Amino acid sequence: MMDIIDAIRSRKSIRGYKPDPVPEEVLREILDIAIRAPSATNAQPWEITVITGEVLDNIKKGNIGMMNSGVTPHSEAPHIRFEGKYRQRQVDLAIDIFKLMDITREDKEQRLQWAQRGHRFFDAPATIILSMDKSLDESAMSFLDIGAIMQTICLAALKYGLGTCIADQGVMFPEVVRKYTGISESKRLMIGIAVGYPDWDFPANKLETTREPVDSVVTWCSNP
Ligand SMILES: Cc1cc2nc3c(=O)[nH]c(=O)nc-3n(C[C@H](O)[C@H](O)[C@H](O)COP(=O)(O)O)c2cc1C
Repeated sequence: MMDIIDAIRSRKSIRGYKPDPVPEEVLREILDIAIRAPSATNAQPWEITVITGEVLDNIKKGNIGMMNSGVTPHSEAPHIRFEGKYRQRQVDLAIDIFKLMDITREDKEQRLQWAQRGHRFFDAPATIILSMDKSLDESAMSFLDIGAIMQTICLAALKYGLGTCIADQGVMFPEVVRKYTGISESKRLMIGIAVGYPDWDFPANKLETTREPVDSVVTWCSNP
């Protein structure tokens, strides 16, 4: 059995999947484990929607339809345009993915197709959407709680041989997701998570993202 350190170290974003469906019992088990995630005052602000099959196909098509009609993606979770080192890391990530996918800077068509893939949840056979009641909008704690369960889902999925990609892009046309899932207007769509069996031959799955070394992100306030 994979221990927790192996799971944390081996989790990575999977952006190419085998078409095999993920059994509902497996998704249920993962979520049953993941709801053990901590939350401030045990408020458990997460609302979880599992989407597969035709509903997922409709959302994928709907998202692409929106893109094709020129609608700008509009996430419901607050977003800003990154600057400085954050922007640089975002750019570096895109460079690394495009290199693996053999997509050049000038190739607008391929870049568009890559973006569409993101809005199709990377063609994963299952997707989990995490939403949160809008009455919690001002609670930073609740946002943190969503992050906690998000990561826990991704780690738990590994036990079943599943890969995941946290996929903001998939919920950037909230009206499409609402249309096919019935998620109420009173809920904020926070994030999507693509779930499926990894296609290890898919080039972007070879990506090994880097991290700033621990010594550059940690401040030790210790006794002399
Ligand atoms: C909140 C959040 C949103 C993300 N949204 C996307 C997304 O829309 N598209 C995408 O390709 N990756 C997305 N990712 C995956 C990140 O790019 C990825 O986690 C990061 O590059 C580190 O790589 P790793 O997950 O392989 O360790 C998202 C990750 C997080 C945590």
